[in-house]
Amino acid sequence: MLNQRIEGLRDYPFRRLADLISGATPASNRPPIDLAVGEPRHQPPAFVGDLIDARRDSWNRYPPINGTPEFRAACAAWLTRRYKLPAGMIDPETMIAPSAGSRESLYMAATIAINPDEAGPKPLALMPNPFYQVYVGASVLAGAEPVFLAATKASGFLPDLDALTPEMLDRTQIMYLCTPANPQGAVADFAYLERALKLARKHDFLLVSDECYSEIYSTDVAPTGSLEIAAALGGSLDNLLVCHTLSKRSSAPGLRSGFSVGSPQAINLLNRLRAYSCAATPFPTSDAATALWSDESHVDETRALYRAKFDIAERLLAGRFDFYRPQGGFYLWLNVGDGEVATRRLWAEGGVKVLPGAYLTKHGEGPNPSQPYIRIALVTDLASTEEALTRVAALL
Ligand SMILES: Cc1ncc(COP(=O)(O)O)c(C=O)c1O
Repeated sequence: MLNQRIEGLRDYPFRRLADLISGATPASNRPPIDLAVGEPRHQPPAFVGDLIDARRDSWNRYPPINGTPEFRAACAAWLTRRYKLPAGMIDPETMIAPSAGSRESLYMAATIAINPDEAGPKPLALMPNPFYQVYVGASVLAGAEPVFLAATKASGFLPDLDALTPEMLDRTQIMYLCTPANPQGAVADFAYLERALKLARKHDFLLVSDECYSEIYSTDVAPTGSLEIAAALGGSLDNLLVCHTLSKRSSAPGLRSGFSVGSPQAINLLNRLRAYSCAATPFPTSDAATALWSDESHVDETRALYRAKFDIAERLLAGRFDFYRPQGGFYLWLNVGDGEVATRRLWAEGGVKVLPGAYLTKHGEGPNPSQPYIRIALVTDLASTEEALTRVAALL
């Protein structure tokens, strides 16, 4: 009676992690440090609280589903500054839709893109492997068949676009890309993104570019965004939806605030879908988000903090576990031989909670390519990062 497709989804990685480490209690002299979830635990700027407080008179009003004009304008202005876009390329009224974090728009993207024809073969949804779980759930529940594109060391930790055949591309209705990538931190360059967008246009599918880690990077130059490609190709956002969030950039995962930017047609569909299915962003959240997108100083500080954490990681782990400093994002992706064994051990003996790479990855016939890996999210302060990674280096 109920939806079998939901039943068929694999358990979320953190549920599987809880099962893996259940029964093990870290020694009491080892205060637990949770580096499993990608939840930045730095403090967002204090003005967030002040702005939310200042709008406390708004709880008795329904907020607009497409966000406040100020919010949309702040997003468009940020995109224009960040990606050096031509003035006027991003129309805040027709090209921006708010979302509860980027998760919500990543999910909805599949509903607006996938249109199964009952008589024909199932549409395809392309995604990197490892992947953010929402890509799969959204695609399957919208009626598509997910296709997992290996993003291993051999392909620079990005999906190999050469592996896509014209037949596959013709059946494709959505393709998810993540840059900087979770968990490997690889950044897609201009040529890669240009190729992906041209494929989307040629085969008429929606390219969904998950750029939620765009502001956390260790390179001198900020990661390229898909909008830069759209600008270079003439400015149209056809076949493109880019998802951004304040969760990582502004260390505000609890605010649940993000947005997507895309063609007027896609944004119109998203807003229609939102009207039927979503809770609109509360006014206080919109005001805080507007201020956050308009401020860069807290983002510069946050980026410097992540760099200091990667310095610690490099000092403690370089030369072991195939350590490398990722171009972007805030994860370590370490080859520890057997990710599940290492995860159990780190928890039971070290009180450090990490995630087995296999839980983020789908495998077919052969062994899971991420089975040797663990993912460590550098989301705590400097002192506990140092403490946790010292334990990792000692235990593994
Ligand atoms: C790759 C990726 N995309 C999207 C998200 C969603 O984050 P949020 O909904 O907080 O913006 C996450 C969160 O961890 C993520 O890792």
